[in-house]
Amino acid sequence: MPTLNWVGKDEVLRYNPPYHTLEKKYTFNSRNDTSENMIIKGDNLLALKALLPQYENKIKCIYIDPPYNTGNENWVYNDNVNSPKIKKWLGEVVAKDDLSRHDKWLCMMLPRLKLLHRLLSDDGVIFISIDDNEMANLKLLCDEVFGSGNFESFIWKKKGGAGNTEKIIGCLTEYVLCFFKQKKAGIFNYQKLDRTYKFEDEISPYNLESIEKTNLGEYERPTMLFAIIDPKTNYEFYPSKDKRWTLGKQGVEKALENNQLFFDYNKNKVFLIKRPDNYELSKNVYYNLLTDCGSLAVAKTEINSIFDNREIFSTPKPLALLTRILEIATDKNSIILDSFAGSGTTAHAVLELNKKDGGNRKFILVEMEDYAENITAERVKRVIKGYGKEPENSATGGDFSFYELGDRLLEENGNLNEKVSIEKIREYIYFSETKEKCEQNDSDFLGECNGVAYYFIYKKDDITTLDFEYLAKLKKASSYVIYADVCVLSDETMMKYNITFKKIPRDIKKV
Ligand SMILES: C[S@@+](CC[C@H](N)C(=O)[O-])C[C@H]1O[C@@H](n2cnc3c(N)ncnc32)[C@H](O)[C@@H]1O
Repeated sequence: MPTLNWVGKDEVLRYNPPYHTLEKKYTFNSRNDTSENMIIKGDNLLALKALLPQYENKIKCIYIDPPYNTGNENWVYNDNVNSPKIKKWLGEVVAKDDLSRHDKWLCMMLPRLKLLHRLLSDDGVIFISIDDNEMANLKLLCDEVFGSGNFESFIWKKKGGAGNTEKIIGCLTEYVLCFFKQKKAGIFNYQKLDRTYKFEDEISPYNLESIEKTNLGEYERPTMLFAIIDPKTNYEFYPSKDKRWTLGKQGVEKALENNQLFFDYNKNKVFLIKRPDNYELSKNVYYNLLTDCGSLAVAKTEINSIFDNREIFSTPKPLALLTRILEIATDKNSIILDSFAGSGTTAHAVLELNKKDGGNRKFILVEMEDYAENITAERVKRVIKGYGKEPENSATGGDFSFYELGDRLLEENGNLNEKVSIEKIREYIYFSETKEKCEQNDSDFLGECNGVAYYFIYKKDDITTLDFEYLAKLKKASSYVIYADVCVLSDETMMKYNITFKKIPRDIKKV
């Protein structure tokens, strides 16, 4: 398989971004302290890493709409990769005439895609909006991260006509690349066939196809001009004036045998009943052309209407595009992640769809710009409470918690960062061990999972010791994992009580 190489790739592959905590700032519209819907303000590289302990392998659907690298977006490469080459790039806007703009973009995307891959559940799918600027590079990059065999793609029709700024070929579409974690049939939902089939009976949906064709003089075919008899009534149907059947006598007999003819007495016509070839299969085969999923213009109108017709965000996607993605790839309890959230269209679509079908989907958004609060979160608040002339009709209900990135957990030298609260450290340790949430809030006991009791004996300003005396404090469990600075128990005692000792900070797992 061909792989892509670019300046900085090796350095970026070696870079393991630090784990930061997430600090909850407030919860909107919920009686609970915390909502499962999250909006995170911060760089998505660190935010995705912060989500790993809780969400690794849990996300059913990811949608991202990264900078397309058009040269006009003012995006800046800002990752703290320890390489002189890359340090030179920091803080500089990536412009069109920048000869390393593709290298920078790929260096930005690779570690994020790798984290997104870890977050996807085994039946999960990622959708990525992109245009011609980086489509080819992105496809090869994703082949590397997700596997080329997991690829599908959609083309989204984003506008109806091209302005005269487009010199040679007016571009009306862009791509939505789609990579499964593990591609197999049945991951996408059955599609609503009413889009393609107008009728439905107890057997399947179907369409009616005319079996009349205009008869052109010299090609007149008398064999196609005969009476078709409805076996139930013996009524004879003939083609309309100047027309012939598209089926011969044999074809008609076969269609009759298969109950495939529909006799329309109102119109005095015969139709062929066309059912999906393989009903089960056709229910979740999708066409790759998305022509009925809004447009750039519709997206702008949508967001402007939420913000009192002010133009506050220049590159939103339309709700219909996100809704289609959610309909295809989520169930009513899925978690959906958008780590380039912009104006928050993804959360809006999740809330609308939940309202429509009574679902309980959850969203996680990440946006690094200051407008994470006054555009991203503000849109979601307005959607939850209702907006426009009839807010009571547009309100979706729902809630979310708003977070900012907190401090990094481990210093560069591997020590625990003293600025991080003990609660956050305990949460991290328990998650990294069990993938469960730590519900205990005092003492050294973190919790019990599958018969294993976890302890974290830690004091910010003191050395902690696991000794014989401490054993009296242990709850009854089949085995123990105990973190402390020092352990003075003998190997026999450890074996006898089934204790695994983990040294702080050396043995703290890095995600
Ligand atoms: C094209 S917009 C997404 C628009 C969005 N799909 C919508 O419908 O509104 C891309 C967004 O990603 C954000 N972004 C870019 N790099 C980011 C990063 N490293 N971390 C978090 N957000 C980032 C930008 O600030 C911008 O708001």
